[in-house]
Parts: sequence; C-alpha cells; structure tokens
Amino acid sequence: MTARIAVLASGRGSNLRAILQAIDAGSLDAEVVGVFSDKPNAPALRQVPRDRRWSERPASFPHRPAYETALAEAVGASQPDWVVCAGYMRILGDAFIARFRGRLLNIHPSLLPKYRGLQTHARAIEAGDPEHGASVHFVIPELDAGAVIAQAKVPILAGDTPETLAARLLPREHALLVAVLRLAAAGVLAEQGDITLCHGQPLLNALSLDSADRLLP
Ligand code: GAR
Repeated sequence: MTARIAVLASGRGSNLRAILQAIDAGSLDAEVVGVFSDKPNAPALRQVPRDRRWSERPASFPHRPAYETALAEAVGASQPDWVVCAGYMRILGDAFIARFRGRLLNIHPSLLPKYRGLQTHARAIEAGDPEHGASVHFVIPELDAGAVIAQAKVPILAGDTPETLAARLLPREHALLVAVLRLAAAGVLAEQGDITLCHGQPLLNALSLDSADRLLP
C-alpha cells in the first residue's frame, strides 16, 4: 500500500525534492501528504500544491507548546504513516515526539553519534576526521540521539571547507533518505526502545546504501 509521508522542512528542501523525484520515477511507493514548516518562506513548501502546505511562525503563538500542538494537529490531520524531518531546524517537543514516536525519522548530516546539533561539517573538518557522512535515525526526545537506521559516508579531502564537504555529502544524503523511506514504505522498519528492527531483527550496525536496498522485500 502506498505509504503516506508527512515532511517537516525549514529551508531549501533538496531532500524533499529527492523524495518527490523518487516517487515520480516510480522507485518509492509513497505519497507526500503534507509539507510542514516553521518558516512560511521556506522554498521547500513550494514543491507541493498549496493544499498540502502548512506553515506557521512559532513566534505568532503565545508559547512553545501552543505551536507544537498546532503542528502536531496539522501533521496528524494528514494521516501520515511516516513523519520525516528533512532539514527541519527546530527542536521538536516531547509531546510531538510521543505522538509520532516509532514513525518519526530525521536526516542528520553527521555520522551519529558524532556531531549532534549544528555545524557538523565544520566540526568534522576541525577534528581532522578522514570521513564524514549523514545518518537517518528515529527521533527521540534527546536531540539527534535516536536509533540509527542507515548512514552514508564521504571522504574528507585536503582543502575541504564546510561548503565543499556539504556539497559532496548532499547527493549521498538524498540517496540515503530515499533508501530508508523505501524500507519504511515496505513496512519492514520498526523502532524498539533504542534499537532499529529491520524485518523484525535488531540492526547491529547502521545500514549502508547498498545494504538498505538489499533488504527490500
Ligand atoms: C540537510 O543537509 C540535512 O541533513 C540538514 O539540513 C539540510 C537540509 O537541506 N539537517 C539538519 O541539519 C538537521 N539537524 P535541504 O533543505 O536541502 O533538504
């Protein structure tokens, strides 16, 4: 059955575009049922028809939980099977996470557990790491700390800047997110406590792009 995917995005929306392109190409059996943003001008919003867009400025709500409730109601109304944070740059509150827990995914630009939070590319270069990457993980209340599902790696080259490194990583992010969503849409992924189950078996290591595709039913 076609998976219903809600996407939370704050900015450019290149990961959302990758999802939409995979759907159009017939390589992902899913439908983007809504795009939800904290930034009314986010380019991501313009990738879907108006009736699938929701955006509200958090500052226009009396307090943080009121924004979170409105967001959760809007996302819930789209009846998603999966909720995907694709460049959503606000920290989600506990109530939102509890409501969608187990079907709430995030893509983060680091090889978690390294470099939770921001400026991940700069921090990886600064640390002298030989490689960098992106992770797709289940979202839990602790920031960027949920069970990792899959990771994609790229080398860090001499002379890399955060920008060149981010540009090398981005296409891998897109492929990684789509690969994980194929598994999600196929119904073979689940979160159990702090681990990921794939086909009911605990994942001992994060999947790679290749191994994710091999696990498709
Ligand atoms: C992506 O690189 C994503 O990994 C990152 O924001 C970018 C969004 O790009 N997410 C985070 O940093 C979350 N903490 P996009 O809007 O073009 O998809």
